[in-house]
Amino acid sequence: VFERLLPPEVIVAETTSGASDAAVRDLFPEEQAAVASAVDKRRREFALGRSLARRALAELGQPPTPLLHGDDRAPVWPAGFVGSITHTQGLCAAAVTRRGSLRSVGIDAERDVDLATHVLATICDAEERAWLATQPEASQGRLAKLVFSIKECVYKVQYPLSATFLDFSAVRVDVDTNAGRWTATFLEPAGGVFAIGDTVAGKWLRAGGLLLTAATLREPSERG
Ligand SMILES: CC(C)(COP(=O)(O)OP(=O)(O)OC[C@H]1O[C@@H](n2cnc3c(N)ncnc32)[C@H](O)[C@@H]1OP(=O)(O)O)[C@@H](O)C(=O)NCCC(=O)NCCS
Repeated sequence: VFERLLPPEVIVAETTSGASDAAVRDLFPEEQAAVASAVDKRRREFALGRSLARRALAELGQPPTPLLHGDDRAPVWPAGFVGSITHTQGLCAAAVTRRGSLRSVGIDAERDVDLATHVLATICDAEERAWLATQPEASQGRLAKLVFSIKECVYKVQYPLSATFLDFSAVRVDVDTNAGRWTATFLEPAGGVFAIGDTVAGKWLRAGGLLLTAATLREPSERG
């Protein structure tokens, strides 16, 4: 489903099944070491993400290699590639492309359920909450969850360029509920790469009980 949200040069591999024991066994030794102390659920989701990322990279001609992560947990892609991984109950996906006109990819999947009310004020600022209040009451919780997913997606797409942790207050999200599009505007600078007022545009959809969000960043010279 993520293919519907991404340009054609991004290869998506995804599955609705959980990780088999084989996927965990098939990890490279360096990868197994990276999750050696993790709980079984985490080891499995890590293994599934790695296997899907390798499948997508293979479609782009990249032979299987270990996909480790740094202390920041961001995946380290083979030279010349960029991508993103997400897992949630019922879906795991990896989206990968050759670094060229596209310089970053971000994807996020969340269960399409109401955002817990006690985190609303952390995730959404006053303006976003004011927008939510204009929406039909029955859909406000799930739209708040959508804002959450969009911010996770923005975090993932900006991070490889800025290497900067961002709080949820760092970007303001505007959602087009009809067109399946969104825009996030930086309210704080990030890593000398994004300035206040810079925007990230992305797409979203609902499918199979999930909310999916995705964005790519193009080289500045290729921006419309
Ligand atoms: C990293 C984060 C975005 C992951 O989102 P999540 O919904 O919890 O989990 P998902 O399954 O969708 O994504 C996890 C994957 O994100 C990727 N990831 C982790 N850190 C990352 C980073 N710094 N940059 C890019 N990708 C990252 C990894 O591939 C990870 O899977 P893996 O460990 O199996 O490789 C989230 O946990 C987090 O730390 N957020 C920071 C705060 C934030 O989002 N601020 C919003 C400001 S705009």
